[in-house]
Amino acid sequence: MTEFNTIDDLDVNGKTVLVRADLNVPMQDGKVSDTTRIDRLAPTLTELAKKGAKVVVLSHFGRPKNGPDAKNSLRNVLDALSAAVGQTVAFGEDCVGEKAKAAIDSVQPGAIVLLENTRFHAEEEKNDPAFAKRIAALGDLYVNDAFSAAHRAHASTEGVAQYLPAAAGRLMQAELEALTKALEKPERPVAAVVGGAKISTKLDLLGNLVKKVDMLALGGGMANTFLFAQGVDVGASLCEKDMADQARAITETAKAANCELLLPKDFIVAKEFKAGAAHRAVPADGIGADEMALDVGPKTVEFLGLKLQGAKTVVWNGPLGAFEIQPFDAGTNAVAGLVAERTSEGGLLSVAGGGDTVSALAHAGVDEKFTYISAAGGAFLEWLEGKDLPGVAALKK
Ligand code: 3PG
Ligand code: MG
Repeated sequence: MTEFNTIDDLDVNGKTVLVRADLNVPMQDGKVSDTTRIDRLAPTLTELAKKGAKVVVLSHFGRPKNGPDAKNSLRNVLDALSAAVGQTVAFGEDCVGEKAKAAIDSVQPGAIVLLENTRFHAEEEKNDPAFAKRIAALGDLYVNDAFSAAHRAHASTEGVAQYLPAAAGRLMQAELEALTKALEKPERPVAAVVGGAKISTKLDLLGNLVKKVDMLALGGGMANTFLFAQGVDVGASLCEKDMADQARAITETAKAANCELLLPKDFIVAKEFKAGAAHRAVPADGIGADEMALDVGPKTVEFLGLKLQGAKTVVWNGPLGAFEIQPFDAGTNAVAGLVAERTSEGGLLSVAGGGDTVSALAHAGVDEKFTYISAAGGAFLEWLEGKDLPGVAALKK
């Protein structure tokens, strides 16, 4: 990585290092229910601690709008963080001012301190420069390891980087390296697989991808809208009819950019949206008036398998069908399985992320087999849209 400083470029021994993490983790019954983000962050914290830094962790948690409250306190993730880093993490009751300073002063180099939710201050989301300076005043160096919050131009994700020497943490570095290989400087041909319910939420993403990739495979509800735009009767399927013009425009952009648009050849349809509903496979233009396409069919799986055989790089976002209910997970499972297999054989670089994607691929049992699965939701989508992420831009040398 030449564009960004990493931890390798910092002399952290004896310094106080502010680390922006994304500890916005899911909770259930007062406990962290998925520790993925914490586990991926831990190596950055332990590396800095081992190198003799005082490590001060900053993060948002939830979306509090009216100052501090117990539900959104980062105290709730303190035990899970301590477990992940293998040492007791200290806690500061505020992320700026005397309370923060006292917590940092109370520990020795090599220790890790978690400060309270940055969003307990309204100035955080306003990216208020005075507030960013108050955060910066707590440390000597700034490390951003929160790729998944890098689409927010907030004081702790963007502002602080203006006032301290800044570098990417190991997780940020891994995300940026994977994303660069997948889309900025990919080995071609590169294919994108995009699913999900609606094109209305992914217009920018599709518009950007067709200009960058050689093939774009569409699944999920959004494929219905593209077929409808071509005059196909999609019956009772999810379909954004008012988006037909946009679907046609994306199809035209794809043609002009030499991107092959791969639409489903067939579907698994049912009359009810429920697990185990009676279903049948039909050609894409054979959906009955009272039937819904709930998954791509076996011909599509075969077709995508052949197309993806030729790819060197695959970027994946979104499920190809209603993967939460069986048997409508079969298409996603099968295509994800093919990608995973070719990745394991060494013939493919595969990167996935954003929203439902991680759970769909975990459900397919392939999440460990992709080259890289991003820990980010919204940030991954904005990156696919070709947007500059403020938290990343602020790290540029
Ligand atoms: C996320 O969980 O996607 C990130 O932490 C960003 O959270 P936000 O959408 O509340 O800014
Ligand atoms: Mg979000």
